[in-house]
This record gives sequence, C-alpha cells and structure tokens, in this order.
Amino acid sequence: MKFDMESKRLTFTKLNERDWDLFRSIHTNPGLMQHIRTLRSEEAIRNAFEKELDPWSLESSHWLTWIIREKTSSKQVGLISICSCKRAKRIAEVGFILLEAYQGKGYATEAVKCVIKFAVDAFSFERFIAVCSEEHLASRRVLEKVGMMLDEIVPENTEINGRLVNDCFYSLEIAVKN
Ligand SMILES: CC(C)(COP(=O)(O)OP(=O)(O)OC[C@H]1O[C@@H](n2cnc3c(N)ncnc32)[C@H](O)[C@@H]1OP(=O)(O)O)[C@@H](O)C(=O)NCCC(=O)NCCS
Repeated sequence: MKFDMESKRLTFTKLNERDWDLFRSIHTNPGLMQHIRTLRSEEAIRNAFEKELDPWSLESSHWLTWIIREKTSSKQVGLISICSCKRAKRIAEVGFILLEAYQGKGYATEAVKCVIKFAVDAFSFERFIAVCSEEHLASRRVLEKVGMMLDEIVPENTEINGRLVNDCFYSLEIAVKN
C-alpha cells in the first residue's frame, strides 16, 4: 500500500529508520511537548519510534506517522499521525506536531485536512477524534478549522509535568457515501 501523499505546499512520507533524529529532537523538545506529555527517556522514545516503523494496517494498534516536508525547501516541517482506535467503528485519532520555524503558516491545518482525506479514501474511516489540552489554543483552532466539533471538556484529565490539565475532546463525522 502506498502511504506517500502531497497537499498544495507539503509532502508526506511514511516514517522510516532515517527519521530517528527528527523524531527524537521533537520528542525531547520541552517547548513542543509542553501541551502533549511529560518528556520521556530517550529509551522510551526509541521504543515508540520502532513501534511506529512497523508496517501499518487497519488492524494495527500503533500510530501511522508521516514526516511532513515543505515542497519549496524540501525541509522537514514536523510529524502527523493517525491511530485506528475503534476499528469496528472506523474511528481514527489524529495527532500532529510542527517545528517552531514552520508554525503560523497554516501548515498544520493543511496537513490535517490532507491526512483525513487520505484516511477516508484509503481506509474508509467514518469518524476522527482528537484530544488536546483546553489551554492549547493553537491546536484547538487547527481542529476547529478542519471542521472538528468540541464534544467534551474533561477536567484534570492528563498530567503533564506534574500538573493536571483539562482535555478537550474533538470529533469529525464523515458523511458516508452510498
Ligand atoms: C498546534 C500546532 C500544530 C499549530 O500548527 P500551525 O501550523 O501553526 O497551525 P495553523 O497555522 O494551521 O493554525 C494555527 C491557528 O491557531 C491560531 N493561534 C496560534 N496561536 C494561538 C494562540 N496562542 N491563541 C489563539 N489562537 C492561536 C492561529 O492564529 C491560527 O488560526 P487562524 O488561521 O484562524 O489565524 C503547532 O503549534 C505545534 O505543533 N505545537 C506543538 C505540538 C503540539 O502541541 N501539537 C498539537 C497536539 S494536540
């Protein structure tokens, strides 16, 4: 199965062994991770990376991750992933992280739209979900711009760096073609 794709300004290639430096630098960056999770050890990050290198199918429980690159420069922009969380119901979770230098250009919004379209076309997902902390306004704005609806705010749901944060649960229903 071909996972590579492109949008107007970006290309997406499935994570491979050569992407370890980018994966590690993102997951050890306190600024990029501040709203996502407490930083993990390099060993835990390496284990997560290796799991994500495994072949992916609808039955997989690990994340399917793409490296996002800017078409004009070929530079790495960040990561975007989906995970099939309820296979029987065709529900996928989406997550994304952009390097600081590429934020504020509409790239996250463009990337999420592209990945959702791919996942619907290739795997017939019918619903997408995303979770982010209530205070992470940029991420919430991205989810709203791609058409996601806020379903619920769960107080003190995730502990990040010793602090409990409220989580926003977003979802997007895809109209099923008959
Ligand atoms: C969240 C993140 C993906 C946004 O990426 P991006 O490419 O800058 O997003 P976009 O440019 O597509 O859209 C960002 C929107 O948020 C808005 N925004 C940015 N900072 C904001 C803030 N502090 N308060 C309110 N809105 C904000 C922007 O104005 C823009 O909305 P607009 O188009 O209506 O003006 C990026 O900041 C990031 O990767 N952060 C670190 C990792 C992370 O937290 N990932 C999300 C996990 S849920």
